[in-house]
Amino acid sequence: MPKVNSFDLLLFGGTGDLAMRKLLPALYFRHRDGDLPPHGRILGLARETLSRAEFIAKVEASFDRFVPAADIDKATFETFAERLDYAKVEANTPQDFGVLADTLKDSPAQVRVFFLSTAPDFFAPICKNLAAAGLVDANSRVVLEKPLGRDLASAQKINEDVGSVFTEPQIFRIDHYLGKEPVQNLLALRFANALLEPLWNRTWVRNVQITIAEQVGVETRGDFYDRTGALRDMVQNHLLQLLCIVAMEPPTSIHPDAVRDEKLKVLRALAPITRANVGACTVRGQYRAGTVNGAAVPGYLDEAGIPPDTSTETYVAIRAELESWRWSGVPFYLRTGKRMAERVAEIVVNFRSIPHSIFPSAGKETLGNRLVIQLQPEEGLELFMMAKVPGDTMSLRPVGLNLDFAEQFKQRPMEAYERLLLDAIRGNLTLFMRRDELDAAWRWCEPILDGWQASGEMPRPYGAGSWGPAASSALVGRDGAAWREES
Ligand code: BG6
Repeated sequence: MPKVNSFDLLLFGGTGDLAMRKLLPALYFRHRDGDLPPHGRILGLARETLSRAEFIAKVEASFDRFVPAADIDKATFETFAERLDYAKVEANTPQDFGVLADTLKDSPAQVRVFFLSTAPDFFAPICKNLAAAGLVDANSRVVLEKPLGRDLASAQKINEDVGSVFTEPQIFRIDHYLGKEPVQNLLALRFANALLEPLWNRTWVRNVQITIAEQVGVETRGDFYDRTGALRDMVQNHLLQLLCIVAMEPPTSIHPDAVRDEKLKVLRALAPITRANVGACTVRGQYRAGTVNGAAVPGYLDEAGIPPDTSTETYVAIRAELESWRWSGVPFYLRTGKRMAERVAEIVVNFRSIPHSIFPSAGKETLGNRLVIQLQPEEGLELFMMAKVPGDTMSLRPVGLNLDFAEQFKQRPMEAYERLLLDAIRGNLTLFMRRDELDAAWRWCEPILDGWQASGEMPRPYGAGSWGPAASSALVGRDGAAWREES
């Protein structure tokens, strides 16, 4: 890949929540650490009329809220601000794109990156207007933020609209979970060590649990969330992408398509969940009032913008299986929910018990090893091994061999968007979803949504601050397994 020395990054939705909260801080950190190519402009684009100075002031004010004070340095911010500019652009107004083209006419930038942090309804007009204004060439890239569709048909429509202007290698579909440091580390763990590979299969793995639990509720996004629900918001993208990284075969190289080919095979190997088995393989939940972190919080139905009779799920647990030689018969339990007991994102690989115990005091079930890959709140890896408790009896208990990244590497971990923005600028597609991956993920999720609708059942209530409906314990309990916090 040729080295990129100069770029223009055009941020549609440039004054929006994601830009202010995540994207601009991420760019600031990469600027501060000297990772951004020296000649690079960042152009905020939005509907409102703002001068460059007003935009910079807005960014500075948002940094006061979203960047830790210790990380902001006035002089560094000023050099960062030299990169910033602003233009008023309405997605549906071709003239605005003409003005934009004039602004960029003499830009020496080697690459042009369009980051679409807008509602997906604007993707098609933005792409069409960019092309019509002559702003797209072989050195252009487009970055798409989720949600990428609400079902297969709408995802395909987005892909066709964007694909009529950009070629597939120019399209960077973001799943910010793929940019998280521990996910990268899972790739290193699996494919840079010989130790795990012989164990990484149905012979030695009993089950895999992937959890993304949040303590927040729907916040100010009630209207969006109620049209979306946990399956579309979290499973179709983040959880399935994590599943792919855990379950994929070793790719032949780190080349984007080598990795994405293997991820695609995992998505295609997912056993279908349809009307016939949706009741046995999934649990849906909806939170009721409760206490989270010591504070009383309202139930989902009392949140702003939520209809009183809604059947949208705020929690989902799924027992998935992969139809493949490596994983046949191994349950992959996926779960995610709002207003849960803890904020935690983790992947737990439970290995099988030893075949025969010579230690009478240790129950056979306790003699299984476990690997925990923690994404949030801390980042780390812990491998639990059985060890003897000091003393005169042979009593055993699991002890964690702990790889604490913060402790080991003593440097600030990069946030997901920092890595992903750098990759988009540099043109590295490895951590972005390919079109066929997106299709395959929707092909698996759609029958689940259909099955829920056909069943007519409402989601099960769970108290805010709990671990979800009791039925989710039963879902794994039927295999003789338990969620990590229960075992
Ligand atoms: C987003 C979802 O994709 O991910 C949100 O739309 C969710 O509902 C968020 O809160 C979680 O991301 P993170 O990185 O904070 O775990």
